[in-house]
Amino acid sequence: MTIGIYDSGLGGLSVWRELCSRIRAPFVYFGDTAHLPYGDKSPDQLLEYFNGSLAFLQSRGCRTIVVACNTTSSVVLPRLKHLVQLPVVGMLEGVSQAAAAAGKRRIGVLATEATVRSGVYARTLEEALPGAEVLMQSAPELVPLVEAGEIAGPKVRAALLRYLDPLLTQGIEALLLGCTHYSFLAEPIGELVGGEISVIDPAPAVASRVQEAWADGEGGKGTDEFWVSAAPERFRATAELILGEKLPPVRLRPWGEEGS
Ligand code: DGL
Repeated sequence: MTIGIYDSGLGGLSVWRELCSRIRAPFVYFGDTAHLPYGDKSPDQLLEYFNGSLAFLQSRGCRTIVVACNTTSSVVLPRLKHLVQLPVVGMLEGVSQAAAAAGKRRIGVLATEATVRSGVYARTLEEALPGAEVLMQSAPELVPLVEAGEIAGPKVRAALLRYLDPLLTQGIEALLLGCTHYSFLAEPIGELVGGEISVIDPAPAVASRVQEAWADGEGGKGTDEFWVSAAPERFRATAELILGEKLPPVRLRPWGEEGS
């Protein structure tokens, strides 16, 4: 059976990579690039994008959905998850586990504006880790940088420093990557925060949750499918650059067609 993976763009590939290393199943990836970035969208817009994307992934035969997007996981899933007929795993499901494993109390979270506004991250972490202090920081310039294939260099470091500075000044002990795009910036982030601060990416913990929930065990692998709602060639070229591997052709699924 097929697993669907959903994000606004390239970020969810960091979760796809983790899933591939754990589960032998065909994956269908959908990047809703027509609506990038999600961080500045309203809850109603995000709900509409999720519903359309879910319908499309279902039409491609997906029977488990991984919402590889913290913004949708924070803003949409708490309202909707119980209504979806399929198993749905969101990013929040890996966050507490990943943060608990780091064993730190003063936790900074870098995330999109919509994720920060939702307040869901802070609540989830404070409930899971009583006594933890959670400091949220939105980082709106980072998704456009990753989408442009810029994951290193002076421009990236300057943007990162602007967002990390307030967290570092407040003495964080761990930094949670609260947007799947930021996984691709883990290297410069690690260099800037230094070895004392643990950088936590929830993607491996999310992939482990999917693995636990994956009822079919060892199924046939088949070929993964990659779909986007705009600019498939650009997606493929940038994805190959940041992943450092070749992808099969990326197909276009224009927004609003039947099944999306
Ligand atoms: N990668 C997504 C996230 O984890 C969405 C980022 C965006 O499109 O702003 O939040």
